[in-house]
Amino acid sequence: MKLRYLAVVALAAVSTLAQAQSKPEDMIRLRQGGLQLLSRNVSILNSMAKGDVPYNKEVAMQKAEFVNTLAPEIFGAGFGTGSDKGLPTRAKPAVWAEGDNFKAAQEKLFAVLKKIQAGAGDQASLKAAMADVGGACKNCHDNFRDTSYH
Ligand code: HEC
Repeated sequence: MKLRYLAVVALAAVSTLAQAQSKPEDMIRLRQGGLQLLSRNVSILNSMAKGDVPYNKEVAMQKAEFVNTLAPEIFGAGFGTGSDKGLPTRAKPAVWAEGDNFKAAQEKLFAVLKKIQAGAGDQASLKAAMADVGGACKNCHDNFRDTSYH
């Protein structure tokens, strides 16, 4: 029990440290690059689901796993306090002012990505799972992404 408590405290200290060390411009670069990479991989999965590029089970499963690892990283490390400015960004102030709603929009995406991972091993179920991903991106963009960089 005591050890477990210490481990939690140590972990919390490490993550506070990691956050304290991230400069705003590094977080902005991380999230923008990360979102580009997320977009590229989701779009390949989408093309495979539709048959625009040949469906390949191994590649689909690997990409589905990758986006599930990547997305939490982007939102966990890319939108820290103070990263509302530092480089041109389209993130609205609402990202930080309405943290709970921003978090809920992330959770919506993570849930869809999990479905995609569960379905990636079969083209028809991948296609079914892909149906909601655009909506999960758009839902957040509509509320938290500006039309131009500021
Ligand atoms: C929880 C909110 C949220 C979700 C969900 C989300 N995004 Fe975004 N996205 C943002 C915000 C905020 C920005 C603006 C970031 C900035 O300019 O610093 C952005 C920017 C982007 C960019 C531009 C990055 C750049 O180079 O400036 C791309 C591409 C992108 N998102 C793709 C996606 C795709 C694809 C999905 C769904 C698979 C998605 N996003 C889901 C919030 C979200």
